[in-house]
This record gives sequence, C-alpha cells and structure tokens, in this order.
Amino acid sequence: MKPPLSSITRLVVILGVMLLKLAAAQDCQQQLDNDTDAEVKPCENFHQYACGNWYSNTSQRILGAHDMRSKWVANLKLQLIRYLEESSSTDSFSANTSVTTSTAQLGTLYRCCLLSGQSIRTYTDALSRSGANFPLLANHTGGSFDWVLANAALRTYGAQGLWRLLVKDNWQSADQRIFYMLPPKFDLLGRDDELNEFLYQRYLKILLLELGLRVRRAALLAEKLVAFEKSLQKLLPNDAEQTLVLRKPQSLKDLESQLPRLELKRYFETILEGIDWDSKTLLLVADLDYLQGLQRLLAEHTSDPMVLSTWLLLQLPAYFELRLHDDDKLGNQRNHCLEQLRKLMPGQLGRLQMQLVLGESYQDVYDTAIQQIAVLFRDLKQQFELVLNETEVFNEDLVTRNLARDKLRAMRLLTPRLQDPINGGPGTPQLGGNCDANLLQLSLSQAKLEYRQVFGEPVTSVPADPLSVNAYYRLKLNRIELPLGLMATPLIQQQCSKEADTRAKLSAGLGYILAHEMVHAFDLDGLNYDATGQLANGQWSARAIIRFGLRAGCYLGVRYSNATLTVNENIADTEGLRLALDTYRHRSGATNLRTFFVAFAQNWCGTVASTSGLSQHAGHAERVNNVVGNMPEFGDTFECKATSQMNPVNKCHIW
Ligand SMILES: *[C@@H]1O[C@H](CO)[C@@H](O)[C@H](O)[C@H]1NC(C)=O
Ligand SMILES: *[C@@H]1O[C@H](CO)[C@@H](O)[C@H](O)[C@H]1NC(C)=O
Ligand SMILES: *[C@@H]1O[C@H](CO)[C@@H](O)[C@H](O)[C@H]1NC(C)=O
Ligand SMILES: *[C@@H]1O[C@H](CO)[C@@H](O)[C@H](O)[C@H]1NC(C)=O
Ligand SMILES: *[C@@H]1O[C@H](CO)[C@@H](O)[C@H](O)[C@H]1NC(C)=O
Ligand SMILES: *[C@@H]1O[C@H](CO)[C@@H](O)[C@H](O)[C@H]1NC(C)=O
Repeated sequence: MKPPLSSITRLVVILGVMLLKLAAAQDCQQQLDNDTDAEVKPCENFHQYACGNWYSNTSQRILGAHDMRSKWVANLKLQLIRYLEESSSTDSFSANTSVTTSTAQLGTLYRCCLLSGQSIRTYTDALSRSGANFPLLANHTGGSFDWVLANAALRTYGAQGLWRLLVKDNWQSADQRIFYMLPPKFDLLGRDDELNEFLYQRYLKILLLELGLRVRRAALLAEKLVAFEKSLQKLLPNDAEQTLVLRKPQSLKDLESQLPRLELKRYFETILEGIDWDSKTLLLVADLDYLQGLQRLLAEHTSDPMVLSTWLLLQLPAYFELRLHDDDKLGNQRNHCLEQLRKLMPGQLGRLQMQLVLGESYQDVYDTAIQQIAVLFRDLKQQFELVLNETEVFNEDLVTRNLARDKLRAMRLLTPRLQDPINGGPGTPQLGGNCDANLLQLSLSQAKLEYRQVFGEPVTSVPADPLSVNAYYRLKLNRIELPLGLMATPLIQQQCSKEADTRAKLSAGLGYILAHEMVHAFDLDGLNYDATGQLANGQWSARAIIRFGLRAGCYLGVRYSNATLTVNENIADTEGLRLALDTYRHRSGATNLRTFFVAFAQNWCGTVASTSGLSQHAGHAERVNNVVGNMPEFGDTFECKATSQMNPVNKCHIW
C-alpha cells in the first residue's frame, strides 16, 4: 500500500522555504559528527558515542548550561544579552513604533538592573504608603503593628509574606483560575544548610544597616529574623514537596471560620480593592496544615511585633533580590537581570526573542511554524490511533479500546501565542528612570492582571515563558503544552542543507517530544484519567489493565535504576520514540535511521543538573541507552551483535 501523502514532507518543505530566507542551511551531518566520539562503539554505549565530543563553553556554563537543553537556553540568553547591551549603547530605541517601545522598556529595565543603583528606601516607602505602620521605620521598639495589612501589601507587589498566594488553573477544570494559599518558599534561607543560613543572615543585616540601624542592633535583629523564618519552616514536614496541594477548593468564608486569627477576609479585601467579589463565592485551595500551624505560631509572636514586622518589611526587597548580587561576577549579574525581565515582562521578552531568532517578518514565520506543528501533532495522533486499534492489550475488548481512542482523539495541543506588541497587556506601566520604582510598578500591574484572571478576564493561552524549553502533559486537562522558549530552539528553527536530514532531525526532536508527552496520557498514572481529565478509576476493563501491567513491568527490570520512581518517564521515553519512529517511517517512507537515532541522542547530551530531592527521570545516558536498546531497528541500523550492550534480548514494548 502506498503511504498517504506525507504531511511531514510538506511540513519540511514549508519550514524549509521560510527558514531558507533566514539563515543559510547547515550541513547537519557535519554538525552531528562534531559531537560524536567515533572511537566509542555505538552498540556498546550509544550515549557516549553520540555525545562524547559534546561540550559547552564558559559563557554558556555561566548561564547554566550542563546539557543540551540548558545549552539552548544559555544560547537564547546570550543572544538576548548581546542585543540588550548593544542596543542600549546606540540610539536604536528612539524610534516610535509600539514594538520598539516595548523593546525600549526591556532595555531600560535591564540597564537599571545591571547598574544596580538600587535603594531599599523605595521598597520600604512603598510598603509604608500601603498604610502599614512598621515599628522599625518609626523608630519605636514596641507598639501595635497590623501584620494583616503588611502581609497583604507584600502580595500586591507580588512578593510572598507569611504564605504564598498563587493564581493557577483550577485542578478540576481547564477554564478557571483560582487562588492557592501555600507555605512560603524558603529559597534564600535554604533548609538545614549552615552556609546558606549564614549568607542569608548577613544579607538581612546589610539591608538593616542601609535602613540606618547600628551594626550591633542590625546583627541581633538579623539573627532573630532568621530564627523566626526557621520557625515558619518547621511548620512544614521535613520532606515537604513544595508542589500544589491537590485539595478540594473551599470558599473564603468557610476558610475564614476555620482560621479566624488569620483574618483572611481583611487580607483579601486589601489585595482585591477595586474588584467586585464576594467572600461566599471566592474559591481557594489552601494548605490547611501549614495555615493552622501558622495561626498557633503567630499567637506566640505577637508579643514581639518588631521581629514579625521587620521580617515582613524585608520580604519585599528580598523578593526583588535587592543587592543580593552586588559582589557577583558580571556573568551572574547578567543572568539575574535577564531573569527579572523573564519574571516581570515575559510577553515583551518573548516577542523580542522571536524577532531575534526569526528576523523581521517573525510573526508570519512564527504563525506558519505553529500551523506545521499542528500537522505533526495530527500525524502522530493518527499513527498512535492506528496502534491502539491494533494492540493486543485491547484484544476482544472493544469498550476499552474505544475509551483509549476517545481519549487520544480528545487530547489537545496548546502552543504559545506571541503577545500583542501594542503594549505588554492592559495597564502596562510607563517606565521611568528609577529602577526600583520600575520593578515595583511592573510587579504591581502583573499582580493585578492575575487577580483579574480569577474574576473573569480571559486567560491568554499557555505559559509564554521565553526561557523555558520543557513541554509537558497535563493529566487533568488531557492536553500538551509547549512553552515559548521551545519555539526558539533548533528543534523547530533549524534547516539542514539536505531535506532528508531536516526531516530526520525534526522527527527525532520535536516529534519525539510530542510523542513522549502523548504517551503520558497512557502511562501508569494516565490510564486512571478519562478523555476530559477526570479521575476514571475502573473504566478500563480488568484484563486490559492486567495486559498493560504485564508489559509495563518490563520497565521495572534490572536495566532501570530507581525504576519505581522513574517508570512513567521510562514508559514515555521508549513508547514515545517508538511512536515518533513509526510516524517518521510510515508517514514519510523515510529511511534515514542513523541520523534519526543520533539526532535523538544528541538532544540529551550532557548530564542532568544535580538536584536536591527525587528526580522523576533517569540520567541522560541511562535514558538514551535504554530507549535505543528497546528498538530492534537500532540494532539493525548499527549492526549490533546479539551480545552487545545496546541490544538486550528483553526489549520493552507496550503498544
Ligand atoms: C564542527 O567543528 C568545527 C571545529 O571544531 C567547527 O569549525 C565547525 O563549525 C563545526 N561544524 C558545525 C556544523 O557545527
Ligand atoms: C560560546 O558559544 C556561544 C554560542 O555559540 C557564543 O555566542 C559565545 O561567544 C561563546 N563564548 C565563548 C567564551 O567562547
Ligand atoms: C512617541 O509617540 C508619543 C505618542 O504617540 C509621543 O507623545 C512622543 O512624543 C513620541 N516620541 C518620539 C521620540 O517621537
Ligand atoms: C530612625 O533613626 C535613625 C537613626 O537613629 C534615623 O536615621 C532615621 O531617620 C529615623 N527614622 C525615623 C522614621 O524617624
Ligand atoms: C481505528 O478504528 C476506528 C473504528 O474501527 C476507525 O473509525 C478509525 O478510522 C481507525 N483509525 C485508524 C487511524 O485507522
Ligand atoms: C537513585 O535515587 C537516589 C535518590 O533517591 C539517588 O541518590 C541516586 O543517584 C539514584 N540513582 C541513579 C542511578 O539515578
């Protein structure tokens, strides 16, 4: 049978035509060979073979490059930094179009941040203007202090106080945003880390000195502030994963009655001033354990308002990392300033980035790329549907087969939209010459936008984070989301001089990523959720679950370290590459398998950053080697012997 008209081929042709205008096509074979270590045998250690010559240079490492993905991000940062620093020295911001205005704002904020002429007074003045009266600023030692007002004032500027108030998608439905009340993050303090604690205490002391305290008093107070923050931290269990709690939302009225001393109604009245809302209908997901502990703790600490009030006072400059980076190297300082832009002006930064990557006609090029990604997604879906139609997992089990197919068909792909250049969204403030005031203004308007999203303002598409490159699958929404940063990487923006290379790289890169996320809908967690993302325990028949489980058990075998922790990722890795490979072959009749496998592996060069806590992924080398070891096509392509490492007898395969 003739394969259907290849949409991947069309995709490649169209991408090719538009990208040729931008950059000279590269010799991708040469590039693939550059990173490989020809002295390693591919059948013995494929990751080492494909990545043995991969490296990142000093500027990239300073910006966080430790593997291929973080290197892409570092390169995006380098490009942005170069532009912001070069254009700030010329007069190129003076033109008067909306795009250049938003670029000029980015430049203003970046320059201010880099010059670091910041002053803590701007922050304490802002808090005082909010109506909270801080004993330290008035030089009282005792007296009353309205911590509810101060805690709320912090949040209007985006900072966290005694809790974090986040605005996130409702965990039950796609189309609603609600408030989450969670414990603070203690990033500056760290956990059980003496050095961090020492540095943080010194930092607080310096802020206090700048506020006019004498050295001895500043040192004493800083010590008490750290002790107070540690007592907050102790309210959390030791291994607390600081993720969103999956609890049922409750009304503010209900929550207030359980936590009377926290005066939540007054807190929300302060931050939601000017918005029409009602405490009976305002929904919240709250970490009750933490808040109850906090209530007890505050009862003890109201006897020392100086500590509580000063701790809150310094949370605002700490949120903007005021002076934290004073004695840093220039490279770290640049990184920090770019992170500020990412946090406060993500839409404008994203647009500038796509302009730099795609050139002047970036909007058209971008829109075309989005359309073509949709085509790739559709092809993968069709291939997966074919597999679900035929898999033995659902033999003589039409009901479950149909459930699975319905879920696949209902799955959506969300791609980021470039923000309107007219301004950074409604109410973007005018920036002036005072850096601190600019930061506060931007943060204030960002917080207001968040609140409006809770009360009806439409949520504009997905995270437009220009410096994030990780796609993810949302179980409870049955959808895949691509961040803006990914759109600017070579995964999408690369044209090889040979069309066959482009096609192989696209399939092994973006194709694999989409397929991997798709398979998460059908991993050990995914099969508990239905097409709308609702928990659907018991929908699949027992025999389908048993057949699935028997096959999935292979991913718990000896080749997998920490297997119970990483099993879902291991399923998505292998089954995802299987799907990407089948789609590549069957829908375009392509045969360039060597390029396909090398390109796949090279997207995972380098090592995973050392992270505290548990990782859901195996290391890159294990990941790549286990995946290719599961593909008979790999052994055929590289002519691996039956005894070689990359050709195990026991190959995992579910679908
Ligand atoms: C391959 O490496 C050489 C030297 O290391 C370099 O000059 C060349 O630009 C690289 N080619 C590609 C396509 O990256
Ligand atoms: C590192 O590589 C990037 C991207 O190729 C380049 O822009 C930068 O100048 C290099 N830095 C050094 C120190 O070689
Ligand atoms: C830019 O446009 C604004 C209003 O559209 C105007 O007030 C301002 O003078 C213009 N600036 C320049 C440099 O042309
Ligand atoms: C508090 O005292 C310090 C030094 O003693 C002084 O510099 C500062 O202006 C005083 N603040 C107020 C609000 O009076
Ligand atoms: C899968 O099976 C259904 C029902 O028989 C059919 O309608 C659909 O076209 C099939 N899908 C593919 C991709 O063959
Ligand atoms: C397995 O997990 C532990 C932490 O739970 C970690 O220290 C270890 O490095 C992991 N092993 C591998 C091979 O990833």
